[in-house]
Amino acid sequence: MNIRGILFDLDGVLISTARLHYLAWKEVANQLHIPFDEAENDRLRGISREASLEILLERYRGPALTPAQKKLWMDRKNQLYRQMLQDLTPASVAPDVSSALRKLRAAGFRLALGSSSKNARLILARTNLTDQFDAIVDGTEITHTKPDPEIYLLAASRLALPPSSCAVVEDAETGVAAAKAGGMLSIGLGPSAAPARPDLQIRSISELPDLLVHMHP
Ligand code: BG6
Ligand code: MG
Repeated sequence: MNIRGILFDLDGVLISTARLHYLAWKEVANQLHIPFDEAENDRLRGISREASLEILLERYRGPALTPAQKKLWMDRKNQLYRQMLQDLTPASVAPDVSSALRKLRAAGFRLALGSSSKNARLILARTNLTDQFDAIVDGTEITHTKPDPEIYLLAASRLALPPSSCAVVEDAETGVAAAKAGGMLSIGLGPSAAPARPDLQIRSISELPDLLVHMHP
């Protein structure tokens, strides 16, 4: 197998922001009296803010929300989330992550980011990760959220590589499904990705270089 490009999800893969998304949604859920826990939060991994709110509202028992009210709740969640992002610094990137990115670049892989988040560029800037990528695609550039392959197809095309020459690293079921739909090698990181049956499953990002180096042509 010839793999030349690696497409990374951001939240929950390169930085532990999945927990921050959870805390922000939890606050909104409390205010709307919706039961919500971390297991339920796994369903929100990888999908857009709009789709996340709709999942949260499945258990909402109050009067139906208008589109304007929904927008207010999404804005509230994003405001809380962005307040938490203020605490991110380059030190928030786990040493395993920095070291894996360095080794993969040194082995000749081209690296891209494919994040559904509209905050992805802010996170990359705060953590000094922007320059690690040859291409970046974020939630402001796509019309279809994961599991649609749009984001990873765009990332591969920005690396000027066919999807079959790319691997995708994902912590979310929807993200693994997007990689499979796009024709890339899917690599699941952690237990939340496993139900989507990725081609390869890892427990830590530190396993990536050894796993992929022999696939480089
Ligand atoms: C994904 C997260 O990366 O981005 C989702 O896994 C999140 O949980 C989505 O809903 C959108 O993020 P944002 O920052 O645009 O609200
Ligand atoms: Mg993720």
